[in-house]
Amino acid sequence: MVFNSSIRYLDQRLTVDEVDIEAIIDEVGTPAYVYSLARMRRNFHRLRAAFAPMSARLHFSVKANGNLDILRALNAVGAGFDCVSGGEIYRVTQAGADADDIVFAGVGKTRAELAYAIKNGVGWINAENVGELSHIDQLAGKANSKAVRVALRLNPEVTAHTHPYMATGHGAAKFGMTTDVIRGLLDKPQAYPRIRFAGIHMHIGSQLADSDATLAALDKLLALTKDYPWIRTINLGGGLPVAYRFNETITPPDQVAEQLSYRLEGYDLLLEPGRAIVADAGLLVAEVLYVKRQAGQTIVVVDASMSELIRPALYGAHHEIVPLRQMEGDTETAQVVGPVCESADVLGADRELPPLKPGDKVALMTAGAYGMTMASNYNARPRPPEVVVDGDRWLVSRRREKYEDVLRYEI
Ligand code: LLP
Repeated sequence: MVFNSSIRYLDQRLTVDEVDIEAIIDEVGTPAYVYSLARMRRNFHRLRAAFAPMSARLHFSVKANGNLDILRALNAVGAGFDCVSGGEIYRVTQAGADADDIVFAGVGKTRAELAYAIKNGVGWINAENVGELSHIDQLAGKANSKAVRVALRLNPEVTAHTHPYMATGHGAAKFGMTTDVIRGLLDKPQAYPRIRFAGIHMHIGSQLADSDATLAALDKLLALTKDYPWIRTINLGGGLPVAYRFNETITPPDQVAEQLSYRLEGYDLLLEPGRAIVADAGLLVAEVLYVKRQAGQTIVVVDASMSELIRPALYGAHHEIVPLRQMEGDTETAQVVGPVCESADVLGADRELPPLKPGDKVALMTAGAYGMTMASNYNARPRPPEVVVDGDRWLVSRRREKYEDVLRYEI
């Protein structure tokens, strides 16, 4: 069985590129994240090819996965980076990124973060507040820096078709500025002498089910930019969907690109994809601790939890669960749960799985985006290791935390 170009069963063992996952787990234990660099590179190239007719510049959204080896690999194939904090700017800089290839976004950037971004010379700041512009202008003066290139984030007042926690473009959302506010700024750009208003930014949500809302929002954006012809750059954010279910079909990127293309003629296009590059290149491996059958249910307790992967608990997100060793025969309906003391700590409800027993290993699929970056130490659980597979080689990119690590800042 083949899940994608990098993840498949080979001789009934779940394999990432050339590596048997069990061989990794024998050394690093569970729970553990495993990523395929080949799959990430392939996803990146596919997006770049889809948007090549528009010469789009891709800035990988670091919030999806900030692992340094992944950032280095994406930097090597020519990605830029979308950062939303000083910490993320530091992270991508450590991975070798050129400051000019960084866009700095975020609804509440602190003065310290803005000063850090300006000092480092980031390529773009995506501004979301009028107050932020005064800070940028002042700080650029203080740093004696050249004019800071800014894209104003538009809140187009369009509701995206996605989970409500991932919709960011409706008027009530905290994100961006509405058209009237942006017009007010672009009518008097001289109020901010150290800012060069050069672009409009927009991100209406993540895991967008279709392009309808994007196109409606883009029409609003274009109605705005046509009055300010010096705005030559449009940044359409991220949001390209991935298939989380085996039988799910999603709009392929080249189709999205085609739908956008004629509207964007004459503009420079920037994108900030996160999930579409890394989600299906990663999985979280867990071991079955216990199986209990009671109240008409089969409950499979594994050693991964919402502390390592919060998406099911937070969004009701679906991650397919498969055993590392392919099993034939009957299946049963099981509740796959973690050990954390929360009823929400269910990684998979009502899953058809082969009868699992303690010691069996399973993989939670499509966990390469917003998995480790959203992991916590809840219940004083040490965060898991991250293993990066590159062809037939693999390395522990980040080791498993120890108990001492969890206490590190208290003693
Ligand atoms: N640009 C901006 C301004 C964003 O807010 C985001 C995601 C992205 C780009 C990247 O979006 P992507 O291409 O990955 O959809 N934690 C959630 C998703 C929240 C995303 C927040 N912003 C999840 O686990 O699905």
